[in-house]
Amino acid sequence: MNELYNEAKNVLKNSFAKYSNFKVAAALKLKNGKVITGVNVENASYGLANCAERSALFTAYGMGYRKEDIKEIMITTEQDAHISPCGACRQVMSELMPGDAKVHMANNKGDIKTVLNSDLLPFAFTEGDL
Ligand code: THU
Repeated sequence: MNELYNEAKNVLKNSFAKYSNFKVAAALKLKNGKVITGVNVENASYGLANCAERSALFTAYGMGYRKEDIKEIMITTEQDAHISPCGACRQVMSELMPGDAKVHMANNKGDIKTVLNSDLLPFAFTEGDL
């Protein structure tokens, strides 16, 4: 768990948060042990910012990994408070990660709160609703 926190913390510097100055990093751990990181990437058209969680997940999917390959995700910031994934990320995480994947939310001291992915978005909209 500390290793995953360090992986996320190490890429915080790569966050492209020039508008909010709110740097976020995520480290996705796969069941094969591989770690895939992501950061938030913002844009002058503010609404087009991509969160760290989605950056990491989209990278993993682009590499060919899928839901069943994912074990857990660590998210961290430079803030005293623990980060909590936004609604858009919860929707994406509900589809792209297993429900029993752990979501670790760390503050700048490395204190970690952990929840299950399935607890983050009750009554999620899913492919079954289409
Ligand atoms: N952000 C994330 O990357 N992850 C979250 O869980 C919450 C918010 C980003 C989006 C934006 O670049 C900045 O943090 C401020 O909202």
